[in-house]
Amino acid sequence: MRKKVPSKSHFDLMKFLKENPDPLGVEASGGLKEYTMEEVSKHNSPPSIWTVYNGIVYDITMYLDYHPGGVDILKSVYGKDMTELYNKYHSYIKIDNFIGKFKIGYIKKEKSKFAPSGV
Ligand code: HEM
Repeated sequence: MRKKVPSKSHFDLMKFLKENPDPLGVEASGGLKEYTMEEVSKHNSPPSIWTVYNGIVYDITMYLDYHPGGVDILKSVYGKDMTELYNKYHSYIKIDNFIGKFKIGYIKKEKSKFAPSGV
């Protein structure tokens, strides 16, 4: 299926990241931040597309054209948690090899309802 072929290859991505070691300016602006799923859900269309994998928030806007599975299938995870779908298709792929540089933060942990009160 030609449609699945990305417009840019992962070799292009590696070259881009070598030239742009902090592509989103995350390190320059103080590192990772804490977000809620509600904030993530607002970034569900260009020019800002966020997704979540195992509690980590990624801004995948710049990655879309490099995805070997094509951009269309990614649309289902814009502004959402993609953990289940990611693992369904390729749990064997170490995600940060590809989008580690697009990591922007993590999901704020909800207080456990089992935590003792007053702690
Ligand atoms: C945004 C983070 C993602 C990264 C870094 C990523 C990375 C990759 C890589 C490296 C491949 C090639 C696998 C291989 O050749 O063995 C691939 C293929 C694929 N990915 Fe992803 N993926 C991501 C998200 C997703 C999501 C969320 C889905 C589903 C909703 C998905 C669906 C697929 C499919 C269906 C293929 C197979 C394409 C084929 O067989 O030709 N990916 N992905």
